[in-house]
Amino acid sequence: MYGLFTTACLLLASVTSVIAANSPGCGKAKTITNKQYSMTVNGKNRNYFVWVPSNYNQNNPYRIVYEWHQLGGSAQKIVNGENPNAGGVLPYYGLRDISNNTAIFVVPDGLSQGWGNQNGEDVTFFDQLVKTVESDLCVNDKLRFSTGFSYGGAMSYALACARPDMIRAVAVISGAQLSGCSGGNTPVAYYGQHGTSDSVLNVSMGRQLRDKFVGLNGCQKPASEPQPNGGNSVKTVYQGCKAGYPLTWVIHNGDHNPSQVNSGSSTPFAPANSWEFFTQFT
Ligand SMILES: *[C@@H]1O[C@H](CO)[C@@H](O)[C@H](O)[C@H]1NC(C)=O
Ligand SMILES: *[C@@H]1O[C@H](CO)[C@@H](O)[C@H](O)[C@H]1NC(C)=O
Repeated sequence: MYGLFTTACLLLASVTSVIAANSPGCGKAKTITNKQYSMTVNGKNRNYFVWVPSNYNQNNPYRIVYEWHQLGGSAQKIVNGENPNAGGVLPYYGLRDISNNTAIFVVPDGLSQGWGNQNGEDVTFFDQLVKTVESDLCVNDKLRFSTGFSYGGAMSYALACARPDMIRAVAVISGAQLSGCSGGNTPVAYYGQHGTSDSVLNVSMGRQLRDKFVGLNGCQKPASEPQPNGGNSVKTVYQGCKAGYPLTWVIHNGDHNPSQVNSGSSTPFAPANSWEFFTQFT
């Protein structure tokens, strides 16, 4: 009798864990508005901005995107954007406008304007952000994403390593392993982008991060390393990856630039590419 009861409970628990995707903020009147907040993490003050769709519906479980700035950048510079035509960034890395009110954005500030992640403190910051923001706002916790350029890409990579069960997919733009990779044993859907003329973080560093997840996701390596097509980027969708863990790599001939465009275009391709990658998951 007890055994049967236990089995039933275990069954129920496992079924629940698969379908329970709505955050504790669902169905509640929100208190968060579009502004800067702060919290204490391991005794340190940490700041972050939140952006909520203008037509927010507390019963709709939203996608949520965590966006990490570059070294020397700031959350404010992601929120406002900064010189996108001169190697800067579009507001919210260009994703908020594309998302058309279908996603919530969280934009944290790094200590010393970076993501050194000493003793995992930035991953802990992420954990606390998830708890705090998602108990106020309605989020589909199976549709949680992370992206960033440069150090922000490194931080997204660190989260893919350390929090694979919390992150549906990452988009790592011109990243390198600067924030560590604690764990790194579990597949995560991975979009990577890098320039062959990157003078700050060599393209080999971006390829190294990619190849970690090529391995974890069980993807086949293409016969030869993908190269840009002159001034046009080349997108490679890796084949043979485990179901649910795709990997896309975009190589271009540019420098360390989150707003790289294709020849003849004035629209940076990272936003549309990463949004397309994120929205394949529903
Ligand atoms: C944005 O979303 C609205 C519905 O909320 C829809 O009517 C509109 O077509 C969407 N725009 C784009 C560009 O997808
Ligand atoms: C990247 O590193 C390779 C190998 O060391 C080197 O040949 C190449 O010039 C570097 N690229 C840039 C843009 O510095």
